Amino acid sequence: MTDRARAIFDAVLPARLSGPVSFSAAAPSNIALSKYWGKRDAGLNLPLNSSLSISLAEWGTTTRVEPAGDGTDAVWLNGERLAPETGFTRKVVAFADRFRRDQMLPLHVVTENTIPTAAGLASSASGFAALTRALAGSFGLDLTEDTLSMLARFGSGSATRSLWHGFARWERGTREDGTDSFARPLPEVWPEFRIAIVRVDTGPKSQSSRDGMGHTVATSPLFAGWPAQAEADCAAIEAAIKARDFIRLGELTEANALGMHATMIAARPALAYLKPESWQVLDRLWAARRDGLEAYATMDAGPNVKLIFLEDSTPRIAELFPDAAIVEPFGAAAKLSGQPRP
Ligand code: DP6
Repeated sequence: MTDRARAIFDAVLPARLSGPVSFSAAAPSNIALSKYWGKRDAGLNLPLNSSLSISLAEWGTTTRVEPAGDGTDAVWLNGERLAPETGFTRKVVAFADRFRRDQMLPLHVVTENTIPTAAGLASSASGFAALTRALAGSFGLDLTEDTLSMLARFGSGSATRSLWHGFARWERGTREDGTDSFARPLPEVWPEFRIAIVRVDTGPKSQSSRDGMGHTVATSPLFAGWPAQAEADCAAIEAAIKARDFIRLGELTEANALGMHATMIAARPALAYLKPESWQVLDRLWAARRDGLEAYATMDAGPNVKLIFLEDSTPRIAELFPDAAIVEPFGAAAKLSGQPRP
């Protein structure tokens, strides 16, 4: 941990932690409508621009943190005890260490992902959000939601937005120490809002978002225009949500995602997460849109395409993309505001 990161945790946590006690927490995964792509400070994981997301209701992570009866850190993922040297275990233990600092408090961390593996979605956002809540609960920490989101940022930037259901906006912040860079949930509830995940994933896993954004910032001549455009998109998307202007929201969301992918394709060497099948999905969507369908696409650091639309377009989407999984972000499975309850 860099000293600056350590100073942040020292400032918000008590010098001596209490517990740990057994504590479970859940968090939904999220999809950015206005993307985070590029860091201004890798040590503090600070973004170059603000971003805005919608959470995926019951698709997410549930994590339990408990004292290690055997005195050794251990991590379980989907029912399987992982070896200590796996990347996943290392990330979880490193994140717990940010809270424990120099205290000997061995933990068992039991994580279940409720994101269907077939969806091909990353789970680091919900994973670090659930882990942040579980660690805070296990150590009896009395932290505000702002602080929890700020701390989740040290696991993964997109985790800042995964602490709640519904829409969330991660403010880039302006302070050098990053203490004003965290997400907050938006109060807007939009019951008709739908997300379809169109899986086109094939072949080997591509580069992580972290490496991909670093490479884009360092080498893409198109990146210079991104942070200001993304900041403007984020504000306009928030305004469209408040105005319940779905078409404007959809147009901005799709343009923002394609703009992000354009910066990557211009990186040297090129970074191309989208596959021919992703473009086929976009072609089919755009043809249907010319026929009046109000649905828009967004894509992240992978080839899968996520569509946003309103409830009355569901039959058409199901016909066009019969294998797509449809999520109701404000449905019964999602609590509409505040902390998700396991
Ligand atoms: C394309 O949050 O995974 O999904 O902070 O390095 O862990 P790190 O990156 P991460 O990046 C997410 C990138 C994205 C866009 C987004 O979710 O905003």
